[in-house]
Amino acid sequence: MNGKSAASLANVFIFYPPDLDKSQMAPSLAVINEPEECKELVSGSVVPQFYVQGTRGAVSIAIEDGTSLYGTGEVNGPLLRNGKNITLWNFGNFRYEINEGKNLYQSHPWVLAVREDGSAFGVIFDTTWQAELDLSNGIRFFADGPPFRVIIIDRESPQEVTKGLAQLIGTMSLPPKWALGFQQCRFSYSSDSRVREIADEFRKRKIPCDVIWVDIDFMDGYRVFTSDPERFPDPKATNKYLHEKGFKAVWTSDPGVKVDPDYWVYKQGTEKDFWVKTSSGEEYHGNVWPGLCAFPDFTRPEVILWWAGLVEGFLSWDIDGVWIDMNEPDIVPFDTMPADNRHLGGDGLPEGPHLQHHNVYGMLVARATQEGMMKANPEKRPFVLTRANFLGGHRHAATWTGDNESKWEHLRMSIPMSLNIGLSGQPFNGPDIGGFWGEASPELFAHWIAIGALFPFSRAHTAGGESDQEPWAFGEEVEMVSRTAIERRYRLLPYIYTLFYEAAQIGMPVMRPVFFVDPANLSLRSEDQAFILGADMLVVPKWAEGPQLPTGIWQSISLVGEDSVNDPYQPNLLIRGGSIIPLGKVIQNTTEESLDPLTLLVCLDENGKAEGVLYEDAGDGFSYLQGEYLMTTYTAEKEGDKVIVKIAAEKGDMKRPKRTVRIQVVMSEGVVELIGNEANKVIGGVDLDGYST
Ligand code: GLC
Repeated sequence: MNGKSAASLANVFIFYPPDLDKSQMAPSLAVINEPEECKELVSGSVVPQFYVQGTRGAVSIAIEDGTSLYGTGEVNGPLLRNGKNITLWNFGNFRYEINEGKNLYQSHPWVLAVREDGSAFGVIFDTTWQAELDLSNGIRFFADGPPFRVIIIDRESPQEVTKGLAQLIGTMSLPPKWALGFQQCRFSYSSDSRVREIADEFRKRKIPCDVIWVDIDFMDGYRVFTSDPERFPDPKATNKYLHEKGFKAVWTSDPGVKVDPDYWVYKQGTEKDFWVKTSSGEEYHGNVWPGLCAFPDFTRPEVILWWAGLVEGFLSWDIDGVWIDMNEPDIVPFDTMPADNRHLGGDGLPEGPHLQHHNVYGMLVARATQEGMMKANPEKRPFVLTRANFLGGHRHAATWTGDNESKWEHLRMSIPMSLNIGLSGQPFNGPDIGGFWGEASPELFAHWIAIGALFPFSRAHTAGGESDQEPWAFGEEVEMVSRTAIERRYRLLPYIYTLFYEAAQIGMPVMRPVFFVDPANLSLRSEDQAFILGADMLVVPKWAEGPQLPTGIWQSISLVGEDSVNDPYQPNLLIRGGSIIPLGKVIQNTTEESLDPLTLLVCLDENGKAEGVLYEDAGDGFSYLQGEYLMTTYTAEKEGDKVIVKIAAEKGDMKRPKRTVRIQVVMSEGVVELIGNEANKVIGGVDLDGYST
């Protein structure tokens, strides 16, 4: 039997095709924790069949009737992937239209399969070559390259498989707290003064926002790492202005370097001979924003180091985060570099054609960028956003779902797309709120921001030449809808931050499919309008048609005075019976104090009990890794007419802040409130007779 399972990784099996020469196998870029100790395959496990189809290494895995398929990374269409076919070939798929949207910006050779009884297995196809995944008849995977190994995780639930995936490919590192705030972008804020105006407008209108994004028009002729002397004469001063107003600044970069013998980046790359070459050994040139560009060969460790140095220099402008784009690489219009271009590799990564390395090109740009950020600011948590990526690339960057369109179909699709990316190891993702291409109607934008404010990554953006898409750009009513939506996010930030900590620890997605509540309930398997944030908050969009919702106790809540059930735009938010959700105050950005008072939203289960966790730390930096954090488990229990809320457990060395705690017990009759503090383990006993509506 060629199935091997690591003792430390329960029910993880590696399968090698018979004709694979392991000594020739490229090191995995997805898997970073190689299973060590092996044992025999457990009976009943899933066994892949390897074969060769023409020149393609292939594998097929049969599935039992009633098995639901998910994952497969960034894909369009519904959450449930049964019957779907995708191409794994990262592609700048503007509006998701080309090739019927079968290949988008990222590739995740990974399938999560949930059996009828709710048990699950997951499959990693451990190859970077261009490939095809066909889910029309079981699971079939064809790579345009040599045979490859397959890793299967076979466990009792999709949650356990998801954790298993994270054990193999690693988890994201904890982002800085500001990156979880609301963010505003456009292609492009065209000058320093426009950036300042946008920042001022947020503060003046009291719409919370943490980040302003600076897109390519800051550059001098679209040369990366330069700035236009007229429009952005002093980027450091731009950032200083933003910082003083409590914003962070994220600036963009592309891997394509303008072919210009007088441009220092091109000169350096040419002198060092760092560019990707064609099959005949010429420097490869392709069109991006500045015209013809050369492309660093990121498969080479010395090129990663060089690029990291450039990013380090870029950060001397006091930039807080780096956005990397067009890194499929995208050759405009609608192309990428030839599949027979050569990459030299290094550090174990083999020399090979672009066909082999294309899908990881974007991930390697992300890695270089992250390394550059760490060099520049070793004491800060790096924040990188990437468009192209590969399974495992969440270790280097967050992601957004590329150039969508301002239309209803893409608003609806953004939910299953983000859910499947989350189920593929990347918790930190979201779409362009409002849609990138085209003009959102006020109605569409209002619905989009209402739901978009609840995604793990929450950023409004729009394309060059399109009308503005800031929250106030659509008139007063949409501005109010936007403010409410974003204020809801800020109240939820302590909960969202705790979920990100969980994602960083064990790889659970932040935004989860409804079927996670009860994997054996088949009626939930294709629900992809509603979703859950963590395990405890159900989000039901107002436009959802006949959503299949989990049974059990779920109570609607109001966070900023809105009527969650009847509001025409804000999704209905429901708290799970048995949970305690920590809430902060409405703040304008995360530099402000949020947790005094701390609100504990309590919803009892049928046994009169509830439990929840709050994770706190400095919000940036790495002191939390040395124990400077506070993780509190709160419990609530009904005793007679009272609900007693306690600190049941605490971890970490951070001193508990002195603060007021507002306990709010949510019941079908209304909400009962008690003001307490954490001076003692018992925070208070809420009198259930005194409920208010
Ligand atoms: C790409 C990105 C988009 C960005 C534009 C200009 O189309 O996907 O988000 O605004 O390039 O940089």
